[in-house]
Amino acid sequence: MADNDDLKALIRTIPDFPKPGIQFRDITTLLLDAAGFQTTIARMAVATRGPVDLVAGIEARGFLFAAALAAPLNAGVLLIRKDGKLPGVTIAEDYALEYGTDRITMHEDALVPGQRVLLVDDLIATGGTARAAVRLLRKAGAVLEQAQFLVDLPDLGGADALRGEGIAVDALLSFE
Ligand code: PRP
Ligand code: ADE
Repeated sequence: MADNDDLKALIRTIPDFPKPGIQFRDITTLLLDAAGFQTTIARMAVATRGPVDLVAGIEARGFLFAAALAAPLNAGVLLIRKDGKLPGVTIAEDYALEYGTDRITMHEDALVPGQRVLLVDDLIATGGTARAAVRLLRKAGAVLEQAQFLVDLPDLGGADALRGEGIAVDALLSFE
């Protein structure tokens, strides 16, 4: 279907969450739809370029898509978590959100340098989160050349900023 309009129809927009002026694109309604979620993962798998060793998902919503996508890609799952959640020795990066600031971490030994990693999240807005994840994964030695999202908010420029860092960026949907 053109522009994945079938999937776009499954995403709900909630105005003024979590702050006035933010149009929150709520993917929980897509997750509730069995066919919609399966179709999402199948289309992300088709959009993936070449084999990858690991799918890196960003807490929390990114975990759902990374874990589901890892199976058809025959890849492992690498967790990028918010600060203070991982039990082993971690490396960290700080970043700015559309609505606040945060820190992400990963286990320093989660990957073997040279492994091919696909970065996955539900949504890219300013790109602050994804760019911090790219810095983190590259610091750990990942070969990171592609990222996949369900939703892009192109007006916020995150996908273009990520492309500027040498990443091939795919998103199934965009909300202008
Ligand atoms: C959301 C979303 C992305 C990020 C995108 O996560 O899942 O990770 O914001 O924003 P950016 O491109 O401006 O950085 P959030 O931090 O709200 O966490 P959640 O998944 O735990 O809800
Ligand atoms: N993460 C950052 N901006 C968002 C938005 N507008 N909707 C849903 N998740 C987001």
